[in-house]
Amino acid sequence: MSSIRNIVILTGAGISAESGIRTFRASDGLWEDHRIEDVATPEGFAANPDLVHRFYDARRAGALAARPNAAHLALARLEKAWQGGFLLVTQNVDDLHERAGSEALIHMHGALNSAWCGACDARHRWVETLIERPACPSCGKPSLRPDIVWFGEMPYRMEDIYEALNDCDLFVSIGTSGAVYPAAGFVRAAREVGAQCLELNLERSAGSAWFHETRLGSAGEVVPEWVEEVLR
Ligand code: APR
Repeated sequence: MSSIRNIVILTGAGISAESGIRTFRASDGLWEDHRIEDVATPEGFAANPDLVHRFYDARRAGALAARPNAAHLALARLEKAWQGGFLLVTQNVDDLHERAGSEALIHMHGALNSAWCGACDARHRWVETLIERPACPSCGKPSLRPDIVWFGEMPYRMEDIYEALNDCDLFVSIGTSGAVYPAAGFVRAAREVGAQCLELNLERSAGSAWFHETRLGSAGEVVPEWVEEVLR
């Protein structure tokens, strides 16, 4: 690993699966019970806000009750020990990475523990439910929505992410199916600048062919093993 300076890591739902958080596209995944159009689009929220609030209120409670697993902890350990550049980009809306100790972290799809006011644009840390339409602490209007990037909305901090990708020597994708862009395209951006690309996943992802190496297994096993290897 001596030639590697800057690392960018992308995580998806698979890294939180062993913490008891459901993934999206498995046969028992969230998108089996819910239509994306209904609960993960601005149009769905406009049509039936109660349904959307119930969906995210339940997921917020589930994330609060979950605990980081060995994979989250290993990535936090890597960040602390790594001398070069390091950025962790997650598509996950749970806070298990930060609770494991990760700091250089971008939640590109938003966060369950944040509420965003549609009236005044303020964001507030939020651990309660939203279905009762609580008042926004900034403007007092009952206009809070989950601070989640829905389909058709722009993911957060894309400039920062591409800046890191353009300068990375190693790109690692963990626990994501590679079904959703722009995250699914990060591997190609990393390859274009000559970075080594490694995939750690339970099964091959949609973009698996773009990676130099794929290691199959559960995140709780393969991520700590890989981190030990890098730090050795
Ligand atoms: N360890 C490693 N990988 C796992 C594990 C595990 N224990 N369990 C499941 N996986 C893998 C699955 O094989 C699958 O490839 O994690 C991946 C999860 O894929 P998805 O359910 O599609 O989740 P993700 O890739 O994060 O979805 C991307 O889609 O709906 C949206 O906004 C949502 O951020 C999400 C985005």
